[in-house]
Amino acid sequence: MIKHLLSAADLDADTATLILDTAGEMAALAEREVKKLPTLRGRTVVNLFYEDSTRTRISFEAAAKRLSADVINFSAKGSSVSKGESLKDTALTLQAMGADAVVIRHPASGAPDRLSSWVDGSVINAGDGTHEHPTQALLDAYTMRSRLGKLDGLNVAIVGDVLHSRVARSNVLLLTTLGAKVTLVGPPTLIPLSPGAAVSYDLDSVLPGADVVMMLRVQTERMQDSYFPSAREYSRRYGLDAARMRRLPEHAIVMHPGPMNRGMEIAPEVADSKRSTIVEQVANGVSARMAVLYLLLGGKA
Ligand code: NCD
Repeated sequence: MIKHLLSAADLDADTATLILDTAGEMAALAEREVKKLPTLRGRTVVNLFYEDSTRTRISFEAAAKRLSADVINFSAKGSSVSKGESLKDTALTLQAMGADAVVIRHPASGAPDRLSSWVDGSVINAGDGTHEHPTQALLDAYTMRSRLGKLDGLNVAIVGDVLHSRVARSNVLLLTTLGAKVTLVGPPTLIPLSPGAAVSYDLDSVLPGADVVMMLRVQTERMQDSYFPSAREYSRRYGLDAARMRRLPEHAIVMHPGPMNRGMEIAPEVADSKRSTIVEQVANGVSARMAVLYLLLGGKA
């Protein structure tokens, strides 16, 4: 087993499949009245969040607690980081506390990688800048596999602000490793060249052939320039509304990592439809992160 999870590229097909299978067993646990396993008793997991997060932070916390680990939540606001303490000094503090795993979200791409050279424990990337978000890709792959039965050969369209999306980057890497075919869709200004993925600027033509449509949030907080004429124009061409959703094959699912801009990239009636897996993704996130913590901290398959 790998020690750190910094990028979805750290996962070969066998390792990724082992994590997804283990997540399945963790999900079965969530059905029970007592949702706890004693596996990580006495181990310490630190959640180090330098950027806002709802789902991911809560999800990692729930995952570590269900495995009986001691959890320390550290957010940059209200800590010595706001007094200018460097990541390295914070790392040394964590090291002194004996953290077995550090889950880090940071606005700078590459921060988890640096951290992994300063601490002895496992480092898990929970989103670094516009770079990667590997556990999101794992929970997304888990959701696709449980809804559609397989990943190999699936046509997955990832739609919207791919340029700023660490979710898209990690998904392309993991999905291609697992045999899915990925098409990136959006305005040319927001679609970077990406080895392994096809590109389209026309959503309507991609939908009839898609098994999965993953809608991405338009990340205005990461945009210094204007990438499209107006929100209305964006929504008209790349938003998924009910009429567009009807172009999808019967079995196709609609995903979104959250947080959503309802009415911008996704219409409320689509987000709340039967095809939507958005709430399921959140639940699956806990199982996927339990699997990652369990396997990285030395659990057996
Ligand atoms: C994403 C993120 O923070 O990278 N959200 C998440 O983790 N569920 C996507 C986003 O912010 O749009």
